[in-house]
Amino acid sequence: MPAGPLTGRIRVPGDKSISHRALMLAGLAVGRSRISGLLEGEDVLTTATAMRALGATVERDGADWIVDGIGVGTLLQPDAALDMGNSGTSARLLMGIIASHGITAALTGDASLSRRPMARVIEPLGLMGAHFTPSPGGTLPLMIEGLQPAVPLTYRLPVPSAQVKSAILLAALNTPGTTTVIEPVATRDHTERMLRAFGVAVDAETVDVEMHLSLTGPADLSPCDITVPGDPSAAAFFAVAATIVPGSDLVIENVGLNPGRSGLYRVLDEMGAAIDLQDRREIGGEPVADLQVRHAPLRGVTIDPAIVPSMIDEFPALFVAAAFATGTTITSGLDELRVKESDRLGTMAQALRAIGARVGEHADGLAIEGSGGRPLAGGGPIEVRHDHRIAMSMAVAACASEAGIEVDDISCIATSFPGFAALLDRATGEPPPSPSGTTS
Ligand code: S3P
Repeated sequence: MPAGPLTGRIRVPGDKSISHRALMLAGLAVGRSRISGLLEGEDVLTTATAMRALGATVERDGADWIVDGIGVGTLLQPDAALDMGNSGTSARLLMGIIASHGITAALTGDASLSRRPMARVIEPLGLMGAHFTPSPGGTLPLMIEGLQPAVPLTYRLPVPSAQVKSAILLAALNTPGTTTVIEPVATRDHTERMLRAFGVAVDAETVDVEMHLSLTGPADLSPCDITVPGDPSAAAFFAVAATIVPGSDLVIENVGLNPGRSGLYRVLDEMGAAIDLQDRREIGGEPVADLQVRHAPLRGVTIDPAIVPSMIDEFPALFVAAAFATGTTITSGLDELRVKESDRLGTMAQALRAIGARVGEHADGLAIEGSGGRPLAGGGPIEVRHDHRIAMSMAVAACASEAGIEVDDISCIATSFPGFAALLDRATGEPPPSPSGTTS
């Protein structure tokens, strides 16, 4: 049976990207930083554990986290392999930090992370002097030997990736001279914003539509108190759920709306969604608003590939919205989705078809013919391939599906959104969740 309307006011957990960076930069500062609103998901806790292994003190203090940094240039040699779990952000950004320090580390990860490409960071960090011994195909597990002092670099990103940009900027912190990253396509700028908050100058200059970001090392970080805003990628699931379930009127408070992250909300607006941004403000140097989301009929759209980097993690949720729209939604330029926690094009195409949606899969995108607002059949069990965003997308689709949807794994949701099921139940007025894998 479809879920009840989503109503009331909710808060989603802290932003995952910003939480990783807060722990890393606080761990590299000299002195004590306090972080409020940190996401306590498995991925971020992976970063906390790794920063401890590199010499920082990271402790929970009530609702906040306190970090006593070890300082740039003085990282400790970890005495065991650093387990990156499912977290690509931890792996790639930490490789940047380690690359310019005179230490050696082994990085391991789960089956999904061990399939994901690391060559994109190995190449520039190798040019800066770090030495890598990856598994075949340039993947984890790998060994990294940093070089101190490393060699500054000017590097044009071949893929639009905030993780690669950030890895290079983090390596630049302990590299004498000026390192420049050239971004042909803008990606989320949390690293640059937060480095400035910790007192590091990052020059940003637009040259012929490309962004040139320069950092001169070695650079000291001054400790800083950070407030992490709510995660727009977590809020996305609730924004889509409230949009597709008739009668919904939900306020999602405190959602970060960094321009490099808010593409989904622009696309939903174009599709006819009713999302009001209320009380726009700035928290921790990031734009934030409360989102009032009311049910609205959606129409299919063709999505401009230029907007893709600003909603790269939101496509699973967008595909669900498209499955309930009137008309066809066409996406392209989504090659990067094939190398996320799962192949998100293949996994979502299969999942949506299994619940009754009409989906065409292409090399770099999906074409989804919507139901015209009618509930989908539902069913399952759906293979989510241990991908948190696929599992949450299916839970959202279940809210507007006749038979509910069964998924094969909900444990993966804890990587980014512990408490997701309980929050969805609260918003839809359902009784507390059952312990099985059934999402509705
Ligand atoms: C992230 C960047 C994106 C995104 C990931 C988090 C970050 O990855 O998909 O979830 O925090 O920098 P890419 O850099 O691979 O695009």
